[in-house]
Amino acid sequence: MVIDKFYLKDRVAVVTGGNQGIGFEIAKAMAEAGALVIVGDISEESLEIKTLRNSGRKIDYVFLDVRDSKNIDQVSKKIFDTYGHIDILANIAGIVVNTPLLETTDEEWEEVINVNLNGVFRCSRSFGKYMAKDKKGCIINMASMSGIVVNTPQPQASYNASKAGVILLTKSMASELAPFGIRVNAIAPGYVATPLTKKGMSNKEWSERWLNMTPMKRVAEPEEIAPLALFLASDASSFMTGSVVIIDGGYTIW
Ligand SMILES: NC(=O)c1ccc[n+]([C@@H]2O[C@H](COP(=O)([O-])OP(=O)(O)OC[C@H]3O[C@@H](n4cnc5c(N)ncnc54)[C@H](O)[C@@H]3O)[C@@H](O)[C@H]2O)c1
Repeated sequence: MVIDKFYLKDRVAVVTGGNQGIGFEIAKAMAEAGALVIVGDISEESLEIKTLRNSGRKIDYVFLDVRDSKNIDQVSKKIFDTYGHIDILANIAGIVVNTPLLETTDEEWEEVINVNLNGVFRCSRSFGKYMAKDKKGCIINMASMSGIVVNTPQPQASYNASKAGVILLTKSMASELAPFGIRVNAIAPGYVATPLTKKGMSNKEWSERWLNMTPMKRVAEPEEIAPLALFLASDASSFMTGSVVIIDGGYTIW
């Protein structure tokens, strides 16, 4: 049955930045679809993850800093040694800095690129090696509509540049990793109600502009992004690679 293609039974999935926000909803959706999910995050294991595990879902937490190759390599080896395969990597960890371009420090610029872009590269390289051994795997990168259009009115050049980088990195990875049976796709959401956008949502000038520029006149809930990640992680998207799927309430159509 076609619906069976959406299930992730017996898959091992790693979700970076899965402690909260969109990453948490993606981890939850994958666990509900039958995967064994390992959330890798720099913040302490969240109550939401603990609650899911206590309700019987196969979900675990590991400290993972996407800025640290050594830490990533230790984590990927441990997961592979424990379970014998790594099937799905969702690169979701991300940060934003809203400093005007002319006032942006080197440290701010480098930190955003380091987490959002270099982190995707580092984790994909590390986990991808195990997928390549098995000649199968699936990588989902978190881009943003900010990698396609410049959002306004908030200044966020470093964020926009990092997400544009994620988009071409996704296509480059899709091209290089197809011979190893690894599919690589990206998700490009519009505004989503998470801790990342909380400050912006509470700024009337910003939030009014955001809603006015979105045909659907609202922001998304993080659980509205998770089904797309599930689709991209599953056999339901078996012929998709190198795609960047926009999910933005229509923001980028105007
Ligand atoms: N919220 C939005 O409107 C929106 C829109 C488009 C894209 N995105 C992207 O979606 C992703 C998730 O965003 P969110 O809104 O859920 O954010 P969030 O702030 O709610 O969650 C981000 C998570 O990433 C983790 N993280 C941060 N730095 C890390 C690091 N160095 N290593 C490992 N984990 C780290 C945090 O601890 C947190 O759990 C980000 O990549 C973001 O850029 C968000």
